[in-house]
Amino acid sequence: MKTKFHLVLLHVIAVVLSFQQFSDGKVMMEYIGATGRPVTFDPVPIDDGVDFHFILSFAIDADASGNPQNGNFSPYWASTLTPDAVSSIKARHPNVKALASLSGWSLGGTVLRWYTPANPNLWISNAFSSLKSIITTYHLDGIDIDYENFPRHNESFGYCIGELITMLKNQSVITVATIAPFYITVLPYIDLFNRYGDVIDYVNHQFYTDKVKTPQGYLKAFQLRVEQFDKEKVLPAYEVNGRGIQGDAFFDALALLQRNGFDVNGVMIYSADASASDNYYYEKRSQAFLLNSTSV
Ligand SMILES: *[C@@H]1O[C@H](CO)[C@@H](O)[C@H](O)[C@H]1NC(C)=O
Ligand SMILES: *[C@@H]1O[C@H](CO)[C@@H](O)[C@H](O)[C@H]1NC(C)=O
Ligand SMILES: *[C@@H]1O[C@H](CO)[C@@H](O)[C@H](O)[C@H]1NC(C)=O
Repeated sequence: MKTKFHLVLLHVIAVVLSFQQFSDGKVMMEYIGATGRPVTFDPVPIDDGVDFHFILSFAIDADASGNPQNGNFSPYWASTLTPDAVSSIKARHPNVKALASLSGWSLGGTVLRWYTPANPNLWISNAFSSLKSIITTYHLDGIDIDYENFPRHNESFGYCIGELITMLKNQSVITVATIAPFYITVLPYIDLFNRYGDVIDYVNHQFYTDKVKTPQGYLKAFQLRVEQFDKEKVLPAYEVNGRGIQGDAFFDALALLQRNGFDVNGVMIYSADASASDNYYYEKRSQAFLLNSTSV
């Protein structure tokens, strides 16, 4: 009995150690569920060697007609991404985490925007409780911030979002927080990051909005964004069938980043909804790239 117990214990320790060694901080970010298509987690290729984050798109502070709800968020991602679906993909792949992305561009025909809450602390408190409920129900691990439209006066954004993330982490509701600026919205995100960068784990900058089509252009954009944020936290990004650099030139860009001394700590892809049509080519190659660069 005793020996068997020890063997089991050793096995557990060995698995934990090898898992830690394998993942080596490489992370894959995959948005999913924004288009309303009946997408599922199951066909997405997940390599054991990376930390794989699914970002459910989106949780929105609005009713179904798009009217703001003073911080009371509701899930609007594809209804196929159920709480059971999340727990089942996490059970099959211990390296999977799931995040709720906040806001996104629009809901139905309504363009969504950050607005200055009448009472910022009430907004934070509503956001905390509604998100805690969604996170618990769906077995989530974190949130991603994807507000895409801002008023001229957006000073409340840094405070409200920064305090929200801080509270969610402090109460152990979440373990991971990411932000997703794009080229027009970078200013409010820099303000947020300058004040609350300690609780932000990754910057999913939407490089495909930087209007660069070549590896050289990508390198320049990357150099700018790591200056604005933190070179350990900024991840290169790719939009499937989308804007910016397209096709294998993206992988040439990743190699160029490495040759210029940047650690490529992960890749963000938008999105699984589009990737089904090419059999997840970019997810497969991105993970192969990340694992290959682990060993050098
Ligand atoms: C946000 O606020 C800053 C500072 O007031 C302002 O310069 C900027 O234009 C505003 N909007 C965006 C989208 O950055
Ligand atoms: C939460 O905040 C309290 C008070 O500032 C602090 O003592 C505690 O260590 C924090 N807990 C976590 C998990 O960050
Ligand atoms: C792996 O790295 C080696 C050495 O840098 C390189 O020659 C090879 O093309 C890489 N393979 C992939 C799949 O990225």
